[in-house]
Formats: sequence, structure tokens, C-alpha cells
Amino acid sequence: MFADINGIRMFYADRSKSDPTGAIIFIHGFPLNHSMWRQQLDYFGSTYRCIAPDLRGYGASLLPEGATKEAWSMDTFADDIIALMDKLGIDKAHVCGLSMGGYVAWALWRKYRKRVQRLILADTKATGEPAEGKVNRARQAELVKAQGSRAIANEMLPKLLAPENHARFGAEVRYMIESTRPEAIAATLPALANRRDMSDWLRRVQGPTLIALGEKDEIASMKDAEFMRDNIDKAKIAIIPDAGHLAPLENAPAFNEAMWKVLRD
Ligand code: MLT
Repeated sequence: MFADINGIRMFYADRSKSDPTGAIIFIHGFPLNHSMWRQQLDYFGSTYRCIAPDLRGYGASLLPEGATKEAWSMDTFADDIIALMDKLGIDKAHVCGLSMGGYVAWALWRKYRKRVQRLILADTKATGEPAEGKVNRARQAELVKAQGSRAIANEMLPKLLAPENHARFGAEVRYMIESTRPEAIAATLPALANRRDMSDWLRRVQGPTLIALGEKDEIASMKDAEFMRDNIDKAKIAIIPDAGHLAPLENAPAFNEAMWKVLRD
């Protein structure tokens, strides 16, 4: 499905049943697309209205025409999601974001708190980018401009999945990254580097919150998860076994069960 919002044509998967319990917005990680949530759409789609957009420039969503640097930030991604919710008549939703999707979930919650019900934060963090990370993002932006998305796939893939999951999910994740436009990757990297540090905001989060972490995640750490848990009232950590950074994809049954419990709490 497509929606014209904020000057872009945005693709979104929509699993709707006639009388849903509520809505869930699933926000993908970098540099992936909505299809990473396929097993959550199957599982939650029989109860909730499930919307999984491709963020601007990703998957089947178009790049903003003549986009300037300002067109890319976690806040802009969040603005697009709100415009999509408006278009679909969704007033409030649970928001589930993985890694960069978690940073977008933070932006949604910060800017549009009344529209966000529970937060499900998967393999993500609340802190800003450290100095060495900023240097690495700048290097990666040059790399993708010079060599295309495959070079980013080659760099990122080893860290995204637990070693035992490469045979099962490696080709699928590689395809997601390689089919992402290099322009979108290059434009997103500075936005990731400049994302807001949410550490001082955590105490304002209300209601049950899930912090899910693949037990072998090499990008988000237990320290990141504990920091969020310790500062958010009513937050729980779920360690997802046999999974790396893409826990909802790598071990969907365990992830879905943990998410289900928090939604039903
Ligand atoms: C992601 O999976 O979205 C990225 O690893 C986010 C990041 O690099 O901070």
C-alpha cells in the first residue's frame, strides 16, 4: 500500500482485521525495510492492526525530491509516521522499533507523546552517538557513495546476525541491504551520528515498556538495555536467546511472546 505524505510516496504493509484490539507501528532498522517484521505481522496481525512502513528512501518508499540534509533525521522519520497514522485514521498506537527504528520510536514519543501507547524497544539504545561512532559513520557514508550498498552489506552483515543464524537469514538480510538505495544510506548515516541523546528523558516514560535484546547482539549491549531499564519506570528486559542484533527476525517466537506479554500487561 502507498500513501502520499510529506512530499513523499510512502510504502507500508497493513495487516488489518475487522475489529482490531489496537494498532502497532513497526519501525525497521538501518539499512533494512519493513520485511524484517514479516513474522510479527503474521503473529500480531490476527489481533492488532499492524502497520510496517518503509521509512523515506527505504524499500518501496521514495526519496524526497531534491532532498536536502534536513530531510533526514530521526525526527523527520517520526513526522512521516505521524502523517501516515493521520492518513490511516490511527489516533494512537503501540510503537515497536528495532535499533534505528528504536531511535525513531524515541523521536515519536518525544514529539507526539499522546499518539504513543506502549514502547517496544528492540536491540536499541537511548544514548547519542559516541565520537568514534561519528567518525565511522562518516567513513561509511564515503564508502557507500563510492562503492554502493553492497559494500555496506559486506561490512554490516557479520555483526547483524548471531553466527548460527547466517545460513538461515543471511541471504534475506543481504538482499534487504543491497536493495536499499545508496543515496538513502549515505543520507541516513549523518542522521544516525547526530541523533539525540535521550538519557535525560527516560524518567518521563510511563506505562509498561519492553526492552528486547538478542543474547548475541554485537551492536546494542546489555549495558544499553540495563541503562534504559534502570531509568524507565515499569520497563522490563527480555533477552532473546539464539539471536543477534535482529532478534525479531532471528527468533520470532521468543520475541513475539515477550512482546505479547507486555502488550497484554
Ligand atoms: C540498526 O540496526 O538500525 C543500526 O545498527 C543502528 C545503528 O547503527 O545505530
